[in-house]
Amino acid sequence: MSFKRLSEVDVRGKRVFIRSDLNVPQDDDGNITDDSRIRASVPAIKDAASRGAAVMVTSHLGRPSEGQWSAADSLAPVARRLSELLGQDVPLIRDWVSGGAWHAALAPGDVVLLENCRFNKGEKKDDEALAQKMALLCDVYCNDAFATAHRAEATTHGIALFVPIACAGPLLAAELDALGKALAQPKRPLVAIVGGAKVSTKLTVLRALAAKVDALIVGGGIANTFILATGGRIGKSLAEPDLVGEAEGILKAFPGKVPIPVDVVCAKEFSATAAPTLKKLDEIADDDLILDVGPATTALFSKLIAHAGTIVWNGPVGVFEFDAFAAGTRAIGDAVAGSSSFSIAGGGDTIAAINTFGIADRISYISTAGGAFLEFLEGKTLPAVAVLERRASS
Ligand code: 3PG
Ligand code: MG
Repeated sequence: MSFKRLSEVDVRGKRVFIRSDLNVPQDDDGNITDDSRIRASVPAIKDAASRGAAVMVTSHLGRPSEGQWSAADSLAPVARRLSELLGQDVPLIRDWVSGGAWHAALAPGDVVLLENCRFNKGEKKDDEALAQKMALLCDVYCNDAFATAHRAEATTHGIALFVPIACAGPLLAAELDALGKALAQPKRPLVAIVGGAKVSTKLTVLRALAAKVDALIVGGGIANTFILATGGRIGKSLAEPDLVGEAEGILKAFPGKVPIPVDVVCAKEFSATAAPTLKKLDEIADDDLILDVGPATTALFSKLIAHAGTIVWNGPVGVFEFDAFAAGTRAIGDAVAGSSSFSIAGGGDTIAAINTFGIADRISYISTAGGAFLEFLEGKTLPAVAVLERRASS
């Protein structure tokens, strides 16, 4: 990979714009439940600030509607945590795209956090006019957001085309190195576990993934979509009805590779206090919500995991944040931690689960990225990386 690295750039007296991935999981009250991504982003920020740069950091948080600020998606809790970790005040700047007094006042060693970049109209569409405006804010652009490297958005892609210098931060570079080495020639069988709530974006990478791996364990809304594809019932559970055909196609193209859950834990409402009921698939009622996999399913999955040579894991298989629906993800975590394979796990919620269950030291490599690491595994060029390479060669 040939791109410029932050460590090679003389940033003294320069304005440095760092795109991090500070998209951390939060509880209903907005408390950060796992700060791994913030901690992983600190070295780049510290490096630039300590070498005399005035540092602007931004990130997305969640998937807010563009063009309007909302408290629920504000980076305010992140600014507080970042201030603690850096040991210096990190002000949060609300309307930052066109600069202003805050920008004129930036001094060497300062660090400011620019409010959720997805509040800006045009961010997700990689709007060129927006990217050009943001580029005017800085002398050096540094992308350290490996977990968002699969998205071509204005702060991950467009801006890099218009800045004087575009480089990679230490986290982005280290993740690419580590995953590249681990996945160049993976020991077989290669078992992937893909769960979580982001059904539509992940389902579309599954076909390519299924071709690469020896077994593909699915969980969450993805598993529900597969259950639908086999003619099963899921009540009112999360799924992607439009992608049932895609799931069906994957099952046909790769017979036996994608095991379907055989039992699940249901509830009548999505809440921490909902009563859990263990059901076989044919017992699911129209008003049931599948919130976890059952013990027969975890036994099936654990067996596959135990025989793996390499495991890649992204996404919980149930709503592990609620105790009554955590057993499935806990069992998967224990199976991954207990296997002698090389295990790679990643993604905001997956890291949170791993830390909740206290198994982090038994996972071979933990990536900050979920979706990005699946696309990397798929062999796709990540657009945020491609643009840094393009800038380095021109
Ligand atoms: C993630 O959590 O996978 C990254 O932060 C990317 O988020 P996105 O799927 O909303 O683009
Ligand atoms: Mg996430």
